[in-house]
Amino acid sequence: MCPHVLLFPLPIQSPINSMLQLAELFCLAGLQVTFLNTNHNQQLLYRHTNVESRFKQYSKFQFRTISDGLPKDHPRSSLLFGELITSLQAVAEPFLREILLGVTEPAVTCVIPDGLFYYAVDICNEVGVSVISFDTISPCCLWVYLCFPKLIQNGDIPFKGNDLDVLIENVPGMEDLLRRRDFPFYRLTNCATDLYCQLALKEIQSIPRSHGLILNTFEDLDGPLLSLIRSHCPQTYAVGPLHLQLKTRLADKRMSSSNSLWEEDHSSIQWLDAQPTESVIYVSFGSLATLTKKEMLEFWHGLVNSGIRFLWVMRSDLLREEEFSHQFVKELAAGCKERAYIVSWAPQEKVLSHPAIGGFLTHSGWNSTMESIVERKPMICWAVYVDQRVTSRFVGEVWKIGLDMKDICDRDNIEKVVKDLMVTNKEKLKKSVDKLSMLAEISVGEGGSSYNAFEYLVDDIKKLGR
Ligand code: UDX
Repeated sequence: MCPHVLLFPLPIQSPINSMLQLAELFCLAGLQVTFLNTNHNQQLLYRHTNVESRFKQYSKFQFRTISDGLPKDHPRSSLLFGELITSLQAVAEPFLREILLGVTEPAVTCVIPDGLFYYAVDICNEVGVSVISFDTISPCCLWVYLCFPKLIQNGDIPFKGNDLDVLIENVPGMEDLLRRRDFPFYRLTNCATDLYCQLALKEIQSIPRSHGLILNTFEDLDGPLLSLIRSHCPQTYAVGPLHLQLKTRLADKRMSSSNSLWEEDHSSIQWLDAQPTESVIYVSFGSLATLTKKEMLEFWHGLVNSGIRFLWVMRSDLLREEEFSHQFVKELAAGCKERAYIVSWAPQEKVLSHPAIGGFLTHSGWNSTMESIVERKPMICWAVYVDQRVTSRFVGEVWKIGLDMKDICDRDNIEKVVKDLMVTNKEKLKKSVDKLSMLAEISVGEGGSSYNAFEYLVDDIKKLGR
């Protein structure tokens, strides 16, 4: 039977980006591919990228779209993420049953849903179609999730007492590393009623019911954790960094093209062209994380006081509690015209690869972390929630490729870490990140671990029948 893969990403920027990269890799490997997107995100993709024409060159590729179940004028902001995935589930469940049981030519032989879509795993098992989950969060966080049942059983979570510096000792491999403040849900009060804790539990329960697990990482970065994860899911394919694997396999070696849901402001590149080498710190908190106005001002003054140039992505929904005011941003920027540039969305991979960039102040989203490693940029981590909190700890203490600010957001501290990153500790951090970047490159080259893992994945998909 002709192998036909159906990819189903979480309807947010980061997983859409990674899944489209995986979809294009499958197209290059000659597989039949269907990409299931929400109508809302598909419209944004078509509006802001060349995705439509890019994928037209692959005759065995098609997009399918479904409603996300929310009204057209719903804000779909990060604060309403729970609402979005609940409403999408109600639409996706019957759709998946229909497409898997109905007459599709050729029939879908393998579903690759985001790890959070535990229900897709159930449906595949129910109708007898193979399923391989793709967890787009960081593997270090996934490992913490896999330890949740034990942590709950031991009474380690929810935490007793308010001291966030206490070590969590029951996560094998992280005994001397993981403090409460590095935990994905550090404000958790009740596992049974917390939506995100419940989702994480369902996510890990579905892992052993999948044929395999895809992770966007490479052996030289996450080897010890991958061994632990494989004790739960032996068929774990570490195929990352996906954007680099794609770039390496594309005949024209182009940088993986934009999959942005927002319009990229390319004036940021022109501004960077006029700046000295490694003189600019790039500031971006990804597609979902928000700041309070107080935090935003502390970051602003810390950056200005550091004397270092900066390029800051200020999304229009970056502020948590208040309406974002373009006037307010204009006034801020006017006070520091020579050294600061603000855009509402940037071509991030291009920005990070620009020679003028010397470092990245990031929320430690998993894609941003991988992109920063590939482009050899040390990081300052301001982790907001979920996997970001574990990832930032690994950036600072395990890989030693950045500085973890963890919870101390005042202008003096920000000024200090920016100077540390860009001046004082520059050479040391650069050396570590250069080494990891080189290992990433080797991993996706012919015969490398991620290259081989992708070949195994494609072979396994070809073998999976109905
Ligand atoms: C979300 C969660 O916040 C994160 O914790 C988890 O690891 C993945 O899902 P997100 O906030 O979207 O991620 O961050 P990240 O994983 O870093 O992905 C953002 C993507 O958007 C990156 O691929 C980045 O290149 C792109 N981006 C970001 C742009 O293209 N332009 C920008 O201006 C900002």
